[in-house]
Amino acid sequence: MTTKKKELIITSALPYANGPLHFGHLLEHIQTDIWVRTQRILGNKCIYLCASDAHGTPIMMKAEEENTSPEKLVDKYMNEHKKTLGAFQVNHDCYYQTHSEENKKYSELIYKNALKNGFISKKNIKQLYDQEKKLFLADRYVQGNCPKCNAPHQYGDNCDVCGAKYEATELLNPVSIFSKKTPVIKESEHLFFSLTKLENEVKEWIDKSSLQESVVNKLQEWFKDGLMDWDISRDAPYFGFKIPGFEDKFFYVWLDAPIGYIGTLEKYLKDMKEEINAYDLWKESSEFEIYHFIGKDILNFHALFWPALLHAAEFKKPTNVFVHGFLTLNGNKMSKSKQNFLLADQYSKELNSDYLRYYLATKLTNKIDDIDFNLEDFQKKVNTDLVGKFINIASRVNKFLKNNNNKLGSKIDEVLIKEFHMEAKNVFDDFVNLDYSNACKRIMKLADMANQYIDKNQPWVLAKESINAKEIIQISSTAINLFRILNICLEPIIPETASKIKSYLNLKDDSYVNLEAFIKNHEIESFEPLITRIEDDNITYLQKVSESG
Ligand code: 2FM
Ligand code: ZN
Repeated sequence: MTTKKKELIITSALPYANGPLHFGHLLEHIQTDIWVRTQRILGNKCIYLCASDAHGTPIMMKAEEENTSPEKLVDKYMNEHKKTLGAFQVNHDCYYQTHSEENKKYSELIYKNALKNGFISKKNIKQLYDQEKKLFLADRYVQGNCPKCNAPHQYGDNCDVCGAKYEATELLNPVSIFSKKTPVIKESEHLFFSLTKLENEVKEWIDKSSLQESVVNKLQEWFKDGLMDWDISRDAPYFGFKIPGFEDKFFYVWLDAPIGYIGTLEKYLKDMKEEINAYDLWKESSEFEIYHFIGKDILNFHALFWPALLHAAEFKKPTNVFVHGFLTLNGNKMSKSKQNFLLADQYSKELNSDYLRYYLATKLTNKIDDIDFNLEDFQKKVNTDLVGKFINIASRVNKFLKNNNNKLGSKIDEVLIKEFHMEAKNVFDDFVNLDYSNACKRIMKLADMANQYIDKNQPWVLAKESINAKEIIQISSTAINLFRILNICLEPIIPETASKIKSYLNLKDDSYVNLEAFIKNHEIESFEPLITRIEDDNITYLQKVSESG
């Protein structure tokens, strides 16, 4: 039976272009990449997109601090991030940036459509303003005493001490973190997107999108608390796109950031010299399926504002939004200031990316619970599973095959191999359902079975009598067939190693599509250690750099 092949647009959240990528980013990109690889292996067409999130005050400030322009800062990080992710085998079809002509075009179009359809309104709001810096102060740029408990040094949105939520203008003794002066209250006109008018449409979208259960629960809480219209404008100075029809107003970064998915698609299509544009794939009637991978902290933007905005502008809404939890490091929140922080590049200087990809996969489910990266557990799991169980299958039979000029025999245990074929299908179902953890459990159970098969048949004992030569080749050939199936299963997780193993097996184009093949009378290459153990020194290094903050 052939099922119709699907066409998918898949995105990871756009990292801000103001600092290097850390382990939290890797969790998301690796989760997405495993899914993209799975879909491709299953024969579906995927366009995997990401970009640098370029706009907003923090990027403007960071550029000022580094004595450069925001444009240059963004270009620098865009190139750096692309390279960093490539070192983890995450290669997007296009990695672009939101400060682009393509994104400007779609931000303006979506805004104008929403305006035309009656979903944009104006309202005057009061904000704190730093007269010296000539800047409206976002919540994190002002500190003062909590209006409820009087705790000092609290930011403009909520109190760390008593948990109170308030407006920045309510802070007692507010001070701008830039000029250290008391800001004034200044009024200005802002544009609002009418989320409240679209509550039913968002609810309908949620009902038909098969979102994760915990995601739906969270969204329901927000509906219960009541939605609010969304402030989508910022006053100058601001690094962003000017709002059509206004001189000194800019789109808020979170308005044009998700539109950056569409802008990046446009760039991809241009680069591919396609005749269609991004709207053709993102219009309401498009057959493309759209999937966003995000962390739970940006759920409101992707599961409330984004579908509402797309609806208001008559674009297609996401097919699904996949949400993951935060990554903790050795049980604690990752934090530079608490000296518990790992950068992606620090890791890739020391260890192979497949180790990390595998470890994260063993932890990823379709739940949104936080995931812990524990250094000792990481070492133990990789050494036990990948080296001790998986690679060991090939290394245990290698010397017997060598005696046969690396040639597999014509007789193999097809019943056992078929059992592995069946289970491999369940592994791929787990990948599709984002339960990578369960997929890894299944794979390691199969690896145990393969090792037990070798244990039971004891080829090293048989090798004492030359009369057993044929039987030894049969056992070894069966073991290599099992090893091949495990490699096919692990391919979305450890692509670099899987590709080396395919070369070793002399089956370069092998894949899940040919899963049910039996490999017989086939010559393989000489065995070389395919991956090595993680040593204590590697872990000591990672521990040390994580503590250097
Ligand atoms: O939270 C963040 O890191 C944002 N830069 C993610 C943006 S995702 C998308 F909407 F652009
Ligand atoms: Zn307080």
